[in-house]
Amino acid sequence: MRYRPNFTVITLFCLLFFSLTSTAKDPDIDRKVNELLGKMTLQEKVGQMNQYNGFWDATGPAPTDGDAKLKYDHLRAGLVGSVLNVRGYEHVRELQQVAVEETRLGIPLIFALDVIHGHKTLFPVPLAEAASWDLEAIETSARIAAIESSAQGINWTFAPMVDISEDARWGRVVEGAGEDPYLGSQVAIARVNGFQGDDLAANDTIAACAKHFAAYGFPLAGRDYNRADISRDTLYNTVFPPFEAALNAGARTVMNSFNTVNGIPATASTFLMRDILKGRWAFDGVVVSDWGSVSELVAHGFAEDLEHAAELAANAGSDMDMEGYAYVKHLENLVKEGKVSEALVDDAVRRILTLKFELGLFDNPYGYSDKAREEKLLGHKKHLAAARDVAKRSIVLLKNEGELLPIKKSQKNIAVIGPLASDKNSVLGTWRAAVDDNTAVSLIEGMTQYNKHFIYQEGVKFNLGEETFASPIVVNETDRTGMAEAVALAAESDIVVMMLGEHGFQSGEGRSRTHIDFPGLQQELLEAVHAKNKNIILVVASGRPLDLSWADQHVPAILQAWQLGSESGNALAEVLFGHYNPSGKLPVSFPRSLGQVPFTYRQLNTGRPGPKDNVFWSHYNDEKNSPLYPFGHGLSYTGFEYSKLRIDSSDKSSIRVSVKLKNVGKRKGEEVAQLYIRDRVASTVRPLKELKGFQKVELAAGKSKTLKFTLSEKELGFYNADGQFLLENGEFEVMVGGSSDTLLSEVFTY
Ligand code: GLC
Repeated sequence: MRYRPNFTVITLFCLLFFSLTSTAKDPDIDRKVNELLGKMTLQEKVGQMNQYNGFWDATGPAPTDGDAKLKYDHLRAGLVGSVLNVRGYEHVRELQQVAVEETRLGIPLIFALDVIHGHKTLFPVPLAEAASWDLEAIETSARIAAIESSAQGINWTFAPMVDISEDARWGRVVEGAGEDPYLGSQVAIARVNGFQGDDLAANDTIAACAKHFAAYGFPLAGRDYNRADISRDTLYNTVFPPFEAALNAGARTVMNSFNTVNGIPATASTFLMRDILKGRWAFDGVVVSDWGSVSELVAHGFAEDLEHAAELAANAGSDMDMEGYAYVKHLENLVKEGKVSEALVDDAVRRILTLKFELGLFDNPYGYSDKAREEKLLGHKKHLAAARDVAKRSIVLLKNEGELLPIKKSQKNIAVIGPLASDKNSVLGTWRAAVDDNTAVSLIEGMTQYNKHFIYQEGVKFNLGEETFASPIVVNETDRTGMAEAVALAAESDIVVMMLGEHGFQSGEGRSRTHIDFPGLQQELLEAVHAKNKNIILVVASGRPLDLSWADQHVPAILQAWQLGSESGNALAEVLFGHYNPSGKLPVSFPRSLGQVPFTYRQLNTGRPGPKDNVFWSHYNDEKNSPLYPFGHGLSYTGFEYSKLRIDSSDKSSIRVSVKLKNVGKRKGEEVAQLYIRDRVASTVRPLKELKGFQKVELAAGKSKTLKFTLSEKELGFYNADGQFLLENGEFEVMVGGSSDTLLSEVFTY
């Protein structure tokens, strides 16, 4: 049964809405867009809505068969609006010349790429960067990514990924900013500003893309691409805020997501794209589908065939079809048959042309493919220095008992053990289109800067076979070669540095896991080494929270190292030897066990918070409710104390909060002071605590500073299930501290 929402209503709404609003902010661009639109045939309009994946080694001969020939023919016929995964001076210029000089109207292409955490210079994976809570560092990272990728002809990145997720099983948690919508919103703003700069037409800025709209981070059972059954409360108060923040920061594009949201595929959801995105938020940029997600409406069982998929997606508000072949094959006929109004096509094309004008592509279609810039800027030493700085700020000190950390430069007789300690590839992380394999600084390479008195043993081989973006990592489960030697080394060493964890390609797209422990034989290696030497410093490399319960009970010092990119080993060495005092804080909770997942610190109290002396309260019989390491947790080589929390609620429009922070240790350090609230009684039950402010502050030993925060309606209010934003009278708790579980608290009445 062909599903056909009442698109007459939608079309009328859109006609009214768009007639009242110009797509472009710049009236001159608006005029040019309308002039050009007036010259375009329907077929050429549809062509702008078509995006192809890189299909031609452009410096080679034109393709003569297969998809590549089809795409090349479409390119020459003006039926391609954008390409992705084509970069580099020659390739970009070659394809742009075809579009600009060989088609009837000469409309330039937009070149897109997943520039997710750097381009040639790789920064820490996004989840790691979020752990820095350093918005300036995060913006710098995106800025450098834009400089390097635009030098290779890229105009548009499919980033920032702003999906909130509470599920460590989901591989793509690595690509976002963690579990909290407030932190996620601030990070989204920093990344959009970094990518887009203050002039989108400049040749070193690129259009940002808030993705994946929406609720992609809530797949059932943590399995990628799976259904998201999600409440309106979670949609409005958890999922939407980082998208709205990115758009308010000026993000010019949005990508919708593969998943269904309460039974409707996001790519064809009029609620998401017409009601929320283009309606409530008045988004005037471009909505691009995810890879093939238009054509996947058939697999979902939402469209009968590709033509029906094109009809549903276009009417619902997907402006551009990425690698789905749906629009280019069927949209023209759908308009002629009256199933999709040309007004909707015109609106989509206006958005796309506007973006191209805003990027300066009509004025200078070859402005981004610049050989000199490409040679000069990619991997520039200043960029590497920046990557090292961001990486060290992203490391989280989870545990530090005893005197092992920081390691003294004079320390001798150090064992370094673990397959990831010599690794130069995995630590680059996933999503690294422009980087050659094995180009990261490894831990052992980094350590030699500060101390050469160590011996390295791999212990066990991590994986077998190839390490690629698209193929599964085959983990070594049986070959114990090297383990005995590593254990023997540990037995005769004073301290042991172990680097264990996941491979960089064990998180990211299509990388959901049902176990979040150390893959393969690594746990066995850890326990065997521990049996001989308990002075272990554990460095954990992962793209998600792992179950570190055993390590927490047995290992005195633990660093969360994520995947830190090109400068991984240098950043880790700076922290290990105390050259940099670790300042990261967790953007995701680390569970005690997988059974607690999905997990967020933003728990509701429930009607039976407990504990009780019977079982009738909200808890597990075999595990604590609390996480192993909470959201916002991160230690320092110094110590910080909070005191004098004060609230001035005399001006209800701006509640003023102050707190005294003191560095009570012996060395300089940075602290992320976090502010949480609880709306104690509300018409939609609110969490026990919600992050609503933070400041990263550096203090010298013994110094203190009074930090000031303000809480406005925006922070204190919430959305109800109807999407109404409410701020209700009553008691609010305000909490401030260095972790979500260590807080001073005061109450005020609104
Ligand atoms: C992928 C991802 C998306 C990415 C796009 C283009 O499938 O879901 O995040 O931007 O395709 O590579």
